[in-house]
Amino acid sequence: MRDPNIGEILIQADELQARIADLGAEISADYADREILLVCVLKGAVPFVADLMRRLTVPVEIDFMAVSSYGSSTRSSGVVRILKDLDAPIEGRHVVIVEDIIDSGLTLQYLLRNLRSREPATLEICSLLTKPSRREVEFPIRYVGFELPDRYAVGYGLDLAQRYRNLPYVAALTDEAIAAAD
Ligand code: IMP
Ligand code: MG
Repeated sequence: MRDPNIGEILIQADELQARIADLGAEISADYADREILLVCVLKGAVPFVADLMRRLTVPVEIDFMAVSSYGSSTRSSGVVRILKDLDAPIEGRHVVIVEDIIDSGLTLQYLLRNLRSREPATLEICSLLTKPSRREVEFPIRYVGFELPDRYAVGYGLDLAQRYRNLPYVAALTDEAIAAAD
């Protein structure tokens, strides 16, 4: 039986993999003569970064950052706290932030400012998903996998109260699940 919280599938597993292969090729071409430092934003970007890094043909290192935004489970407050910082300095490095989804943009705006102050040589964003209609702050997003409508999504890293990150596809929540989570 299907989980009653899981609604319509928004992006199938094979569509995710095909797009990630394209992104990997695009990033590899852009960084042809450089070494990339992927900064994976825990926990949601884990499946994405794992698949993306295997599609990169340039030298790659990876580091992790965990941030939490205060607020309810399905909305971002914009107040961000660093739970786990990077292991190493990024000064002079070619950094690509790998994120699962950009909603209001408040989390990434904070991360961009924070990482920029550490003086990387370059700093770009690669987000698997974005919800353009929800954006509250604007900044350039160099690489985007898919645009989503204004619906809460789970799967392939995205969670509802820490569940469903392991789904191989991206799905919408049912209205009942959203109401129960709020
Ligand atoms: P923002 O600060 O509003 O851009 O939200 C960014 C973070 O909120 C993402 O990294 C996710 O962790 C979480 N988030 C936003 N929208 C969704 C969603 O539809 N499903 C699951 N998590 C989401
Ligand atoms: Mg996230």
